[in-house]
Amino acid sequence: MNQDTLTQHYERDKRVWDDCAETYEQEIVEGHPDVTAYEAFEEDFFDRLLLHLIRDKGRQVHLYDVGCGSARLHLRYGLKVSDEDRFEKEVRESVLNGRRLNPGCQYDPVLAHGLVSVGGVDFAANMIKLAEHKMAFAGLTHLTDGRWYFEEGSAFDLEPMPADPLPVVVSVCNSIGVTQGPTGAVELFKSMRRAVERSEGIAIISAYRAEAIESFALGNYESTMNVCGQPRWLRRGEYSSPDFTKLPLAYKRAHDPNPRITVDVLDKDGQVVENSYVLERDPAATRETIDTAHITTHTDYESHWYSFAQFDEWINQLWDRSKSYHISGKSLDALRGEPAQFAILDMGGWIDDLFNRWGI
Ligand SMILES: C[S@@+](CC[C@H](N)C(=O)[O-])C[C@H]1O[C@@H](n2cnc3c(N)ncnc32)[C@H](O)[C@@H]1O
Repeated sequence: MNQDTLTQHYERDKRVWDDCAETYEQEIVEGHPDVTAYEAFEEDFFDRLLLHLIRDKGRQVHLYDVGCGSARLHLRYGLKVSDEDRFEKEVRESVLNGRRLNPGCQYDPVLAHGLVSVGGVDFAANMIKLAEHKMAFAGLTHLTDGRWYFEEGSAFDLEPMPADPLPVVVSVCNSIGVTQGPTGAVELFKSMRRAVERSEGIAIISAYRAEAIESFALGNYESTMNVCGQPRWLRRGEYSSPDFTKLPLAYKRAHDPNPRITVDVLDKDGQVVENSYVLERDPAATRETIDTAHITTHTDYESHWYSFAQFDEWINQLWDRSKSYHISGKSLDALRGEPAQFAILDMGGWIDDLFNRWGI
């Protein structure tokens, strides 16, 4: 794919993500239990890595989230570094208001000392708007006034970052799968290397594996088709066009082999036009999705789940193999990590001790 096509792809995806920002927030970020398990798994890993860098290595850290979306990590770490009294007040208020506050976001004195800034970039203006709104709603404007910030822009244009505080640049939740196909994925690998190479920082790409597409992706995307559109492996029917929203009645969980899913169909005004409408997989289209690991829907949404071998090749070609790790999610967490892989570029050898201790 030449640069023009990458640019066109970028512009199209930017529109898709701007359009789905609100529903993505409701249905994915706070929705499907397998997705929230994956997110919690990533966050636990980052918590432990940050503690290691701050406490064991004595470093001050700058966390930077590429494709930061609606501020999942900004919010988490904003709450964790905000003072204890404030946190308790937040919890009390959130309980009274009946809204969810992740208990894992409690105040952490080590992070408060060493996590000095959190930045992020996203090309979707509506995602950034949502991110800023969420930070304000959580009472964290004292951070977004300076040290916690969002940039509207491209994941491919990261600049070399200063060495102090130590940059930890992450791309999470399979964002690489939605950064404009394999050409975009290569640009992301290069961009993240450029960001941390000179300053001996760390780059981490957390992604789904193509090998898990049958057991995790099919049910997952069917369950969230009100965000991304009807997957193409479900037979086309009278409601397949983007004019209708299909609201699944229940989440389909990983490893569920059921080829059908039941939805309520809504028109553009949100009026129900049919209850309990059954959509069924087309075996040939399902097979093709599993073989190509390329997820497409009847709108412009698409995602790739790259294979372990493909990630290995990119690490070899685009990063410094001797300073990189490529691990399966299972080696970190056998249950929640099953569908995941991590590419880690550790320019300064900061993680070696930690992974040795963990037997990785
Ligand atoms: C799967 S979402 C992850 C969002 C967030 N990191 C999270 O975990 O909730 C991927 C994000 O990447 C953004 N994105 C996709 N391609 C991008 C690009 N080339 N440059 C910047 N952002 C991009 C999308 O707008 C979207 O917010």
